[in-house]
Amino acid sequence: MHSFPAFHALHTFRRWRARAPWNLAVLAILTLVATEARPADDPPLQAWMKANTAPAVASGDLPALAIAFDKLVGFAPKDKEFANWPSIARDGAAAARAGKLDGAKAACRSCHAQYRPKYRLEMRSRPLP
Ligand code: HEC
Repeated sequence: MHSFPAFHALHTFRRWRARAPWNLAVLAILTLVATEARPADDPPLQAWMKANTAPAVASGDLPALAIAFDKLVGFAPKDKEFANWPSIARDGAAAARAGKLDGAKAACRSCHAQYRPKYRLEMRSRPLP
């Protein structure tokens, strides 16, 4: 009986349970750290998008969107593979200033379609300029 793997597993579990208060505390802390750490681990541009563009679109805040698009012009990677980035962002800013939320959203989609996968592959960890 003592050599049954199931018995060993049970025995190990009982020993673990005997120390349960500490083990559970450590487990709880590790879980917390693992889940809490994630937002801070967002890559720079993604974190910026989530904090700036997404809430402005959600609330239809056109002036905030115009400012975000202006900033995005300056975030353009220098690499010529991203050549249309500034003009897409400028179109977005112009649409936001003209009161056109749909036009602004089209600029979001256009840049994401053209550049998001490439950006993620090549320069995701790049700090924002
Ligand atoms: C000129 C380019 C460009 C424009 C314009 C742009 N984005 Fe982004 N966006 C990106 C890139 C590149 C990423 C990927 C960043 C990463 O994953 O590290 C991204 C990521 C995001 C993310 C992170 C999560 C996800 O879905 O990938 C959100 C949210 C987002 N953008 C929202 C917006 C919204 C809303 C707008 C329009 C108001 C917008 N973006 C306009 C380039 C752009």
